[in-house]
Amino acid sequence: MSDSSSINYIVAPGGVLQGRHRVPGDKSISHRALMLGVIAEGQTKIIGFLEGEDTLATLSAFRAMGVKVTHRSRQDVVVNGAGLHGLTVPSGTLDLGNSGTSVRLLAGLLAGQTFDSELTGDASLMKRPMRRVTEPLQMMGADISCTEQGTLPIRIRGGRKLHGIDYTLPVTSAQLKSCLLLAGLYAEGQTCIHEPAPTRDHTERLLGQFGVAIKQRNNTICVNGGGKLRATEINVPGDISSAAFFIIGACIAKGSDITLEQVGINPTRAAVIHILKAMGADITVDKQRLQSGEPVADIRVRSSRLHGIDIPVELVPVALDEFPAIMIAAAAASGRTVLKGAAELRVKESDRILAMTAGFKSIGIKAKAYEDGMEVTGGRIQGGMVDSFKDHRIAMAFAMSGLAAEDVITIKDCTNVDTSFPGFIDLASQAGLDIKPGDAGDR
Ligand code: S3P
Repeated sequence: MSDSSSINYIVAPGGVLQGRHRVPGDKSISHRALMLGVIAEGQTKIIGFLEGEDTLATLSAFRAMGVKVTHRSRQDVVVNGAGLHGLTVPSGTLDLGNSGTSVRLLAGLLAGQTFDSELTGDASLMKRPMRRVTEPLQMMGADISCTEQGTLPIRIRGGRKLHGIDYTLPVTSAQLKSCLLLAGLYAEGQTCIHEPAPTRDHTERLLGQFGVAIKQRNNTICVNGGGKLRATEINVPGDISSAAFFIIGACIAKGSDITLEQVGINPTRAAVIHILKAMGADITVDKQRLQSGEPVADIRVRSSRLHGIDIPVELVPVALDEFPAIMIAAAAASGRTVLKGAAELRVKESDRILAMTAGFKSIGIKAKAYEDGMEVTGGRIQGGMVDSFKDHRIAMAFAMSGLAAEDVITIKDCTNVDTSFPGFIDLASQAGLDIKPGDAGDR
């Protein structure tokens, strides 16, 4: 059910995406640049910081622990580093809202502090699995607990001496890897993490920018405790996960030709491009360069005829956040698209397998849910009422489906789009999507 403050999206059918645009800063990099800036010595400047609710939740948590962060402009932030041991006791429970990245990475960082802390979040975050971080942190010597059900709140008793561990991740998760690398900075000796498959490596790259040596070989990443971080300047690229909605929109809206400037194309994030190209997309990646240790490029997309594919399983962990959007491309494609090996989709901001298949049913697209994925048969996208399950990526994905729809699509409960993509409606409208906000009464 929508609450009275929630916003629906009303998307008119058709439209063409055009022009050159910039999506907001990368969410994962913004969180990490802020966290590392906080525990560094000196002033760190973050250019292109994402002003989304998730990253602002991380920022508020640090403010509650005595950190001074100033905005020179909306996306230009200066962090006064407190050093590894300069945080102060938080004024109360730290509420990280909807943000899994904030809570899981902070758990690692706070496990090494001298003071107690407690982490909580909104109704969605309260349901998400936390034992994946509390268990290995306990192995490192932390005094940390979550509920019997493995959920928030997380409670940490400070003043524990952490020691390095050698740990194989039981789930392919960059949040978990990053949590342990952050705790590893506070641990005695070396912390080595073995990943079952590569996940986004922004923490490793950023630690390098802050002067911390990381050892990486095959799928193992090691960090030594006791080092110092040197403040620096980080220029955050546009978020490829946000760009993905426009990339898919341009693929499926006939006559589109859009360029997204300065988007991060880190190989651990850019699989969406490979998957769409395999489906027949017309995408060119231009002006590749390195920016604060991250590969960045301009991405040009022209509409094309897409066809369904079996999504290669090895690309799943590095395209996980993009599946709501990719599945919209599958709905507009000819034939069947099959996604397997994506059980993690069930424990995101919503159960994304359930949310996508339910949404497809509402707009006349045949979709079958598997425990670890789904199958979508391309067809005629009809109008209808879709529930976003208060999940930002479900809301934006179905908004783009309007470009290939035959009638109006209304998407319920889209307020959480602000967690990752402030200004989505404005940018989408400028690019050519006919989208309007409505209140909960607009059905
Ligand atoms: C993120 C890692 C991914 C991703 C999330 C952001 C990060 O989650 O889905 O949106 O910034 O580390 P998992 O680590 O749970 O796979």
